[in-house]
Amino acid sequence: MNRKLIALFIALVMATAVLLLACEAQHEHPAAAETPAITKAIAVMHPTEGHTAHGTVVFTATPEGIKVVAHIEGLTPGRHGFHVHEYGDCSAADATSAGGHFNPSDAPHAGPEAAQRHTGDLGNIVADENGVAHLEWTDKMMSFSGPHSIIGRGLIVHVEEDDLTTQPTGNAGARVACGVIGVARP
Ligand code: CU
Ligand code: ZN
Repeated sequence: MNRKLIALFIALVMATAVLLLACEAQHEHPAAAETPAITKAIAVMHPTEGHTAHGTVVFTATPEGIKVVAHIEGLTPGRHGFHVHEYGDCSAADATSAGGHFNPSDAPHAGPEAAQRHTGDLGNIVADENGVAHLEWTDKMMSFSGPHSIIGRGLIVHVEEDDLTTQPTGNAGARVACGVIGVARP
């Protein structure tokens, strides 16, 4: 047998091995392709230490974007900064464990309608004289998959108003409620 034939034989054996391994890998994880896309998510908001704010925020995938429906009670009347934060970790008494605003594209802080903004920038939620706030907003930047996915991230309501300008926080002050965005039953 000459060298060329031997080389050809080795290449053939290796190609077959790679093909077999690829088939094996596919058979080991048949569920991966069948996992349905996430269409709905929810964050249950709990008050931080010394505060009473609580509620639920539901996120639903629509053709126009992620629809956010927030209902928060136990707030002081007025505007309160409202953002998705980097970490789904509300373990600290003041919720600083949730990190800063969720910002996968390294953009400046801004309002929800700005072209350049943190993905987590939801602006403000406005509480009435009874401390009850309701917000509905369809967001074009947030997603349930890929780099802008908000699944597993933190959601924060602040004590002060987000001025939509001050970097990188909007000067919204301490955190009064924290929740984790999790997959919801569709
Ligand atoms: Cu925030
Ligand atoms: Zn921000």
